Amino acid sequence: MDEKPKINQGLEGVYFMESEICKVDGKAGKLYYYGYDIGELAKHSNFEEVSYLLLHGKLPKQKELAVFKEALASNRELSEDVINLIKRIPKKTKPMHTLSVAMDLIGATEKNAENGSMEEASVRIISKMASVVGAIGSIRNTGKYNPPDETLSHTENFLYMLDGEKKKKDVVALTDTMLLLHAEHSSNASTFSGIVTISTMSDIYSATVSAINTLKGPLHGGADEAALKMIKDGMDKDPDKYINGIISSGGRIMGFGHRVYKTYDPRATIIKEQLKKALRNANKETKKIADAAFGIEEAAIKVTGKKGIWPNVDFFSGPVYSCIGIEEGLFTPVFALSRAPGWCSHIIEYSRNNRLIRPTVYYTGAVGKKYVEIGNR
Ligand code: ACO
Repeated sequence: MDEKPKINQGLEGVYFMESEICKVDGKAGKLYYYGYDIGELAKHSNFEEVSYLLLHGKLPKQKELAVFKEALASNRELSEDVINLIKRIPKKTKPMHTLSVAMDLIGATEKNAENGSMEEASVRIISKMASVVGAIGSIRNTGKYNPPDETLSHTENFLYMLDGEKKKKDVVALTDTMLLLHAEHSSNASTFSGIVTISTMSDIYSATVSAINTLKGPLHGGADEAALKMIKDGMDKDPDKYINGIISSGGRIMGFGHRVYKTYDPRATIIKEQLKKALRNANKETKKIADAAFGIEEAAIKVTGKKGIWPNVDFFSGPVYSCIGIEEGLFTPVFALSRAPGWCSHIIEYSRNNRLIRPTVYYTGAVGKKYVEIGNR
């Protein structure tokens, strides 16, 4: 047998490309989109501007932003085929599956999916993904599709499509901050899977669908829903006993831990602040959930903090989405529509200097086995 090479299980610590898009400083707990600190962006910017930044590598001038917003708004409408798909898909289908097939259908019926400009397709993907999630939310609850409103901002329109109601400014602002905080995070699993797909010279829609399906897992984007389930489960229990119970049975605290951050995730810091603000207008049930989250967080840090396991972006997201009025089943789809600009940005960057991604496994099986007829095995 060949000499065993060093195996990087989970590709941990493996550099596969150079990128200018995002820096995740896991030691300092810092995150930068094209050099801008996430705290600065959350304070001063918005999702539309950050989407432009991620696609163009620079903040837009006024005219550039106006043109970009117009392009996002004019691409919101969904075709009858997509609306019917969402209406006819079996009721029990999880929204992430519906989002995936709807985006695949959009790519399949898009004239220029295979050979048009990826930059233009990205705008359509960002725009349409928000409409699809809005439509899924509304259709699964009421059976009704609320057509988009071009006069609204991207985030306002997404919330409007969910139930046909225009939302208050503070709810829109909070949602927009959540979208911005989730917009990009370097070579995470979903982004990498989108890059793998584009490296075969597939198209950007297919690459986005790969990313959606990768985000779904509870170790990645699905952790927001899993974290809220855990918080609710621990709600009326003693937090220390509850956390010790999970750890001693070999379980994981959902919304805690990260491959890169070994300290508090900077996004979780901002989301926690936003949650505290949003609680002023929250109902009793949401306040109870948030209180439980604070208790569980404190208890968990006592046990896991010394191992470098701290709250990540997903821990407080569920309670915030509850304040906004977004149902649990839509948490991960909302994460997906927020991450669309980051995915597209990386897919385009990689394809500029494309090389088929094809890693190697170290084979430990046998060779030269003799084939035995089925009746003689
Ligand atoms: N709760 C309890 N223990 C944990 C947790 C956790 N959330 N995360 C890691 N650990 C422990 C592991 O049990 C392991 O302990 P051991 O060395 O005693 O066996 C050690 O920390 C290292 O764990 P790994 O799985 O090797 O660490 P990895 O870098 O792969 O972890 C991951 C990253 C998958 C995110 C992990 O922290 C986890 O499962 N978290 C819970 C799910 C979650 O919140 N995912 C969202 C991540 S953010 C995002 O994707 C948007």
